[in-house]
Amino acid sequence: MMIIKTIEEMRSKVAERRRQAGKDEKESRIGFVPTLGYLHKGHASLLKRAREECGTVVLSIFVNPLQFGPNEDFERYPRDPERDSAIAEQEGVDFIFMPDVTEMYPQKILTTVSVSGITEGLCGASRPGHFDGVATVVTKLFNIVQPDRAYFGMKDVQQVAVIQQMVRDLNMNVEIIPCPTLREEDGLALSSRNVYLSAEERTQALVLQLSLNEAEEWVRQPGIRSRELRQNIISRIATAPLAEIDYVEIVSYPSFLPLEDEEPVTAAVNDGQLLIALAVRFGQTRLIDNRLYSLG
Ligand code: PAJ
Repeated sequence: MMIIKTIEEMRSKVAERRRQAGKDEKESRIGFVPTLGYLHKGHASLLKRAREECGTVVLSIFVNPLQFGPNEDFERYPRDPERDSAIAEQEGVDFIFMPDVTEMYPQKILTTVSVSGITEGLCGASRPGHFDGVATVVTKLFNIVQPDRAYFGMKDVQQVAVIQQMVRDLNMNVEIIPCPTLREEDGLALSSRNVYLSAEERTQALVLQLSLNEAEEWVRQPGIRSRELRQNIISRIATAPLAEIDYVEIVSYPSFLPLEDEEPVTAAVNDGQLLIALAVRFGQTRLIDNRLYSLG
């Protein structure tokens, strides 16, 4: 495994792999897993999938300032490159691309990639500019690594949709592979930010997963409307005294169009599936989770 700090070297390593590639489709394939680092089993599951499907696996670790708001946790975002390298090694990563901020942004950036529509609600509404930062850095990373496949977790379902839309709209030559959310044994979705939680907050954070579980029954209640479903979820989350709701959104998937208050949730079926997405703060820590419901 090699750790690479510069764009030039990353490009040349990938080019070398491509030159050496034989006829075997899998062996010649370049798989890419972009991350902010502080790796956990969720990231590892993406690396495993990439390892299964690709001859070369590239992991990027870059805490991208462009996607953090002015009052967010860019400075204190957890970082541990040594531990990350050990995990990457274990997962059979070939190259870790770990550039400094000055390597990625040597001067003020004047070009950004912005996906409209699906970024209006959910995290797009509560984190203005966030998805422009994500789409821009992922475009840069795709241009540097030039992967055949890139792996993203459904824990960030809106991020997956943004990247898929961007790749379609701009004809990027990469296949996006959405991967399932990995959870702790008690159901909490793995996240680098879970380390911020106190013991009490950690216990109460289970309410995200529990309310999504209970919604399995609520969404199937005949005639239930979006407003009532939303209220049920809000009340359930409110049973955790430390929980402060950022949003509870009920949208059609994959369009991300919000259901009107009085609309029966079955209306989402026309669009495929129903998506419930949650963002809840516990103290300083903002957690997200989501689930797709097939109502057919
Ligand atoms: P980060 O939060 O580090 O996540 C990197 C990838 O791991 C994302 O695709 C994310 O969805 C996935 N992931 C996180 N938790 C997961 C879990 N519990 N189960 C499965 N996959 C999980 O998302 C980002 O970084 C950044 O926005 C990035 C795409 C790297 C752009 O900077």
